Amino acid sequence: MQKVERIGVSLDKMLLSSFDKIIARQGYQSRSEAVRDLIRQQLSREKLTNPKVNAYAVVSIVYNHHSTKLMQKLTSLQHSHLLQTISSIHIHLAKDECMEVIVLRGRIGELNHLGEKLISLKGVKQGEINLVYPKP
Ligand code: NI
Repeated sequence: MQKVERIGVSLDKMLLSSFDKIIARQGYQSRSEAVRDLIRQQLSREKLTNPKVNAYAVVSIVYNHHSTKLMQKLTSLQHSHLLQTISSIHIHLAKDECMEVIVLRGRIGELNHLGEKLISLKGVKQGEINLVYPKP
């Protein structure tokens, strides 16, 4: 385990009380754990702005499965990016509607580019790219 350092933080009462309410609702057992997560989030957010850093992306798209061309394009885009595409899950949302969750790995610049390509395909009703930087 890495060496732990203690720090002291001064906050006004109102700010601390709002913070305590939120973290209690979220289920945190201690302020320290909540603050550690906030710092990790901030560090990871910072990393995710660098297009050359290696990370993961979860691309979720919603579309109508009657659009055969779209399904072919979705599949061929993933096949032509074999190194980036780790996995995909298909979920039947409703009678005509499907959701596909595609997990990608690679440089952030490439992940955003491929994610945007997938989302902008004609027939995709809804799409989102979530970048994940697993460290620290
Ligand atoms: Ni389906």
